[in-house]
Amino acid sequence: MSQNLSVVSQQIVYLNGEYIPMSESQISTQDRGFLFGDGVYEVIPVYQQKLFAWEEHLQRLKNSLAAVSIANPLTDDAWLDLLNTLIAKHPWQDQFVYLQVTRGIQMQRDHLPADCLTPTIYAYTNPLKPVDDKILMQGIQVVTLEDIRWLRCDIKAIALLPNVLMKLAAKHQGADDAILVGRDGTISEGSASNVVIVKNGELLTPPNSHKLLPGVTRIVIERVATSHQLSFAERELTLKDLQSADEIWLTSSTKEALPVTLLDGEKVGSGVPGPVWNKMREHYQEYKAQFIAGVV
Ligand code: PDD
Repeated sequence: MSQNLSVVSQQIVYLNGEYIPMSESQISTQDRGFLFGDGVYEVIPVYQQKLFAWEEHLQRLKNSLAAVSIANPLTDDAWLDLLNTLIAKHPWQDQFVYLQVTRGIQMQRDHLPADCLTPTIYAYTNPLKPVDDKILMQGIQVVTLEDIRWLRCDIKAIALLPNVLMKLAAKHQGADDAILVGRDGTISEGSASNVVIVKNGELLTPPNSHKLLPGVTRIVIERVATSHQLSFAERELTLKDLQSADEIWLTSSTKEALPVTLLDGEKVGSGVPGPVWNKMREHYQEYKAQFIAGVV
């Protein structure tokens, strides 16, 4: 506990142009992010103090801002400079940066945003710890749940209440996470991750659409798979596809690819992380090493 507190007290955050201790950072109670969940965010992994897949994260941030009609407040170079400065203020080699832009402060309550609000920009960073080897050796347990979210899940919106509720529901069922099934019967994604399955050696994932977030880790996995002659394809997946998959993975910036070994109480494949996941894990770590070395 005291160790956690001392980490927090040393933390510097970025808020609207300033780098300040987290304990001193304050935002207005009238911020539309606080009152309406009116904003977007990114989570970006950092290896050896270098932002990973930065271009893809920046592009998604710009897409999210455009989709919710918040004018992009900074240039590409200014975003990069902001985050690199924040990263350099912390000792951790591996970090994950959280970056949030809300529509800003509006004194009078109105669902309709006033013109010319100044967006609130906030960023902080945490140490990025690798997923426990024990978890990677066993895999995780997942339940399928109805996807109760809206129809713009492609926007990385800060309003995450449905995701929180689905994660809680999974926990109440004794599972680590949930895979979400849409009203049309197709699989969208995890509560905070994308879904990839392996079937007969082929990697399959649902196509990008308004039903899911276009994950950056997924892009990296496609790149790594393709460079190792592993077939990767986008295809609508159903519950049946999940149930008959040889392997199921959940992919995200903070956890990379997590193997799912129990789905709704039934074994996935042979009930242990599969051979394709093991290969991908190796290739993914090689790719990260090449990235750190500046080769990719
Ligand atoms: N979430 N889908 C959802 C709903 C997510 O929240 C995330 C990541 C992903 C995977 O995206 P990426 O590979 O770009 O991290 C998919 C982050 C980690 C979060 O909210 O903390």
